[in-house]
Amino acid sequence: MSDSQLPTNSTREKYQPIIVGRSEELAQLWELVLKGRHVLVTGAPGIGKTILLDVLYEGLSARPDVHIFRVGDSRQFKASLVELAEQMHARGVYRHPKFSESVLRTMTWDKLAPKVRALTVKVLAESLVVSLAGRNAILIWDQFDKATPTEVSWLHQFLNTATLLVATSDPSNFKLKVILDRIPARVELEELTESESYELMDRCFEVAPFAVSDLDWYKREIWRKTQGNPRAIKDLLADHSLEKYIDSRFIRSIQSDQGVQYFPISWIVVIGTLLFSIHRYVGRGLGDRDAYIIGAAGMVIFLFLTIVVRKGNKAP
Ligand SMILES: Nc1ncnc2c1ncn2[C@@H]1O[C@H](COP(=O)(O)OP(=O)(O)O)[C@@H](O)[C@H]1O
Ligand SMILES: [Mg+2]
Repeated sequence: MSDSQLPTNSTREKYQPIIVGRSEELAQLWELVLKGRHVLVTGAPGIGKTILLDVLYEGLSARPDVHIFRVGDSRQFKASLVELAEQMHARGVYRHPKFSESVLRTMTWDKLAPKVRALTVKVLAESLVVSLAGRNAILIWDQFDKATPTEVSWLHQFLNTATLLVATSDPSNFKLKVILDRIPARVELEELTESESYELMDRCFEVAPFAVSDLDWYKREIWRKTQGNPRAIKDLLADHSLEKYIDSRFIRSIQSDQGVQYFPISWIVVIGTLLFSIHRYVGRGLGDRDAYIIGAAGMVIFLFLTIVVRKGNKAP
């Protein structure tokens, strides 16, 4: 499920603003970008690249000394460029090849948009580069792997003109290799640690409490299934039935876990059966040797099985 498609008012949406950890990565990004270094943010889908870039965008937008722009979800390459043009126009820095600065100032985006879309990708890209030139500009490009540019030459021009902060879950994408090779600084996002995962769960429970008979066991299960992937944690907590949709390519433990079943056997069942067996055995009389042997053997097997099953349920 893409985050932009979250049903409104859902529990999942309430979890959305909760963020744990990542202060180190954020500080690292902040420092690199303000130094003017291009940075590549990598990590599996759902690990938190977008949310981290959002935080960074908010923080840097407040600074008067930088111009920050971002490309979000866009899969269509040209649409990404138009998106950038719109943001630049809103800040009064967009330069269209056919209009003077003063004319552009009087134009609303509604009027300008068709004229921007009419440009070819190449000309549009050039106009963006011209608009960025000479400014302290930072360009955030999320989901870069989905961009699949038809031509990369002008991307090089972007790299020459602005500071690029690029996120991708596929840094080995051969189509983008030439570009990615120009970005030596990498910030790799890892899964949340065990304690961060528990903290995230606790904070989600605060926002939307729910009843579960054994909370600690439940939390261990979530940790075991998600291995610290924050999207998986939020999705699972919000809706258990999603379990089967979680992309197991990115969640290691689910693969080894498939087929594992739980047989809840409480001590009451064990003791109850034990008492019942004793009752039968005593009822038959001490002299009945067959009943004695069958009863005893049955009890031993049953006790052995229940203990094995209980141990299996507890195993991580
Ligand atoms: N550090 C975190 N703490 C809490 N939730 C997080 C964290 N990182 C990501 N999430 C949540 O996980 C989901 C996926 O995050 P996102 O940034 O879209 O991942 P990516 O862009 O890497 O695929 C979002 O719903 C986000 O709220
Ligand atoms: Mg993302």
